[in-house]
This record gives sequence, C-alpha cells and structure tokens, in this order.
Amino acid sequence: MNVMRHLRVPNSKVEGVLAQMKAEQWLAIGFRVIPDEDGTHRLLPISTEAPSELPGLTSAYEVELVEGRADERPSSDWWKHLKEILGEEEVAFHGESWPSNHEFIGDIMIVRIDEALRAHTKAIAKAKMHSHPHVRLVMDDKGVQGELRIRDLEPIGCRNGDHVLTSDFPPHLIETRVMVRESGRSILCDPTRAYFSTKLQAERLETLALAKELRSLLGRPIRVCDPFCGVGPALATLLGEPDLVGDLLASDLNPDAVEMLFDNLRRWDRRNYPSETTPLSRIHEDRAVGIADATKLHEAPDTSGSWDLLLVNLPHRTVEFLPSLVPLLDRTGPSMVRGRVITAESEIEEANEAIRKALPPRLQGTPEPTLKIKRDYSSTLRLCSFEAWIAPMPEK
Ligand SMILES: C[S@@+](CC[C@H](N)C(=O)[O-])C[C@H]1O[C@@H](n2cnc3c(N)ncnc32)[C@H](O)[C@@H]1O
Repeated sequence: MNVMRHLRVPNSKVEGVLAQMKAEQWLAIGFRVIPDEDGTHRLLPISTEAPSELPGLTSAYEVELVEGRADERPSSDWWKHLKEILGEEEVAFHGESWPSNHEFIGDIMIVRIDEALRAHTKAIAKAKMHSHPHVRLVMDDKGVQGELRIRDLEPIGCRNGDHVLTSDFPPHLIETRVMVRESGRSILCDPTRAYFSTKLQAERLETLALAKELRSLLGRPIRVCDPFCGVGPALATLLGEPDLVGDLLASDLNPDAVEMLFDNLRRWDRRNYPSETTPLSRIHEDRAVGIADATKLHEAPDTSGSWDLLLVNLPHRTVEFLPSLVPLLDRTGPSMVRGRVITAESEIEEANEAIRKALPPRLQGTPEPTLKIKRDYSSTLRLCSFEAWIAPMPEK
C-alpha cells in the first residue's frame, strides 16, 4: 500500500491541470490517474517531491490521500530488458517472484530480491538500470535490522558513464549519501547509516494537519518532541509551516542519524548547528537536539513535562515504550501523542487496548486512540498509526 496525495480535478479540467503538473514536475511518475467514484472527477497523483501547496492548484482543487495506483507501463520496459538478458522461458519460470516493485531514495533504487532469484542478481540490476536511466545505483534490500532500524543494503549495480557495472564497484560510484526532495524540501539521508523511508510522506502530511489542529486548540505555536527523529523527515514538514513549531526536541540513539539531522536542520531552520554529532543539548534557546535514549528523557527535569506534541516512531516497540514517554507531555493543557505501531492484523484490538491503557485519559469530545492500518509490513503484520488527544491533568 502506498497512500499518496492526489488532486481531485473535474474531468473537463484534467487535460490542462495535467499539462501544468507535468511542466512543474509535480506529477508522480509511475502512478496512474484514477477515475473518482462520482464519475465526474479524476484523481491526479502528486509527486512526493512537490511542495505541500501547489500554487494555483491546491487552492482551486481538493487534495485527497488515497492509495496510489502503480502504472505498469514503465515496468513493462524492465520485463523487456530482463527477457532479453535471460530469455522468455527463465523469466516465465519464476513468475511472480521477480522484484517488479522498487523504492527510489534520490537516485538510488532499492529492490528486494527473493532468495530463489539470487543467481539472477546481476541480470536484475542490469534490467532495472536499463529501464530507469536516471538511477545511479541499485541496491538489494535484505531488511531493516537492529535497534537503529538500519537497512542491510548491498550494491548490485551502478552506472559508470554509459556502462552498467554489476561487480567490482569503485567506491566513488556507490556513494549512498543522497539528497531526497519531499514536499518542496531537501532531506539529506544515507539509507546504509540511518533509517529513512520515502513511503511515509502521506503520514507526515497527516501529522502536519493534526499539529495545526493542536495549534488552533492551544492558540499558540506548539512544543514538539520527536525522540526517534532519525534524520528528521517529520520535522522537515512541520518546520515548513510558519509559526507552527515553538520549542523543539529532536533526538535519536543513532549518532549517524544525528549528524545528518544537524545538516538538515541547518537548511530547514536557517540557523547554525554543530558539524559533529553531540549528545542531546540546547543548541538554541528553542532547539534541543542530539543523541539520546528516548526512554531516559523523562529523567531530565528540563525535558520532562514540557511538550504539546509527542511523536513516537519506533513502530515495533511503541506500545512497550509509551509508559516511559508519556511523562514528557505537558499535562497542564491538552496535548497529543502521534505514533506508529506494527502488529498482526488479528491483534489490532489488543494493541488498541494496550495503547489506551498506557496513555492518560483522552481529551473530552475526541475519539478513542485507534490504530488505522497504513500498509502491509509482511504477510501477517500491518503498519498502523494512531493519534491520541490527551486531557490536562485535573488540578489537585
Ligand atoms: C523507524 S525509525 C524512524 C526515524 C524517523 N522518525 C523517520 O520517520 O524517518 C526509528 C528511529 O528510532 C531510533 N531509536 C531506536 N531506539 C531508540 C531509543 N531507545 N531512543 C532513541 N532513538 C531510538 C532509531 O535509531 C531510528 O532512527
């Protein structure tokens, strides 16, 4: 599942809007225009790189978050190349096992190769690179590992001028530090050193909408705590909104992520940040940034009880960590927890109960925190998210 932004345009205007989106490079490549159920509109897929506001378009038409429909046409090119290299019979023999999906992180393509197809790794790399001329490097993804959630990635193909190499890679051609454009901002990341996923743009835009609601409720910029921030993609979106973020705490256990976070904040926040990784400290009066263990933050008097919005983005441990994170909220007024959770589909109700038990009472008039499935994590596990509006602590 890949939920993404779509512009809902009346059929009669589709041609003109498509032309404008193509000219501005706002149209998502590899995704299709979807007919709306009402028969009078179409949903045009918006590129993740496009700014959050599309001048002249987002003011005129609604933006909807719906699952993108992959366009099979570009991939037909990859099948053609694969068949040229391996022959029709071998390709047909492995049927659905071929990695027809992939993820782009800047000019890097990430694919997951089935164990049974390892012997064809070089052919896969070549066919992918021939069918995607803008790709510089193809990497095989062996999955996210360890507490720092870093992907185990192995280069399997890279471009050297007009040639595609599938072994003996010169180090300068397999550089993995890249700039990714999202919602009009540049995010520095390195998927071999810190967690990063381009598939979370819709999630980040939903968080932005919730943060704006919280700001309206409180009537002032909000204090945001992102203690599993990685290289900071959630903050790219929040800091892009004027007068939304007041005080900010951004920390992570991974020193490499923090090093890139400093670089990112320097650009997004237009202020100085250290060039070396440092433990969590007040870099500016309203910016606490650095390496920290999120479960220990509540022990420090200046970080405990100080935040309006808490982001909990360590989905395989969110429920377990919530009790140590809740004390970070400022309970003198309403606050919010926004989190992601991985759970078996059959255990969603149990997880809902565990979340409700771990959190303080909800704000009157707001719904119970409830997990919404965002996409498949494996054949049985689902990646879900929730938001919880928290009531102020009653005065004694
Ligand atoms: C799923 S990633 C999310 C990163 C980032 N929020 C994003 O959306 O790209 C989880 C992050 O939590 C960090 N992490 C894991 N355990 C931690 C802990 N105890 N304290 C702080 N950070 C931790 C990992 O290093 C990783 O960057």
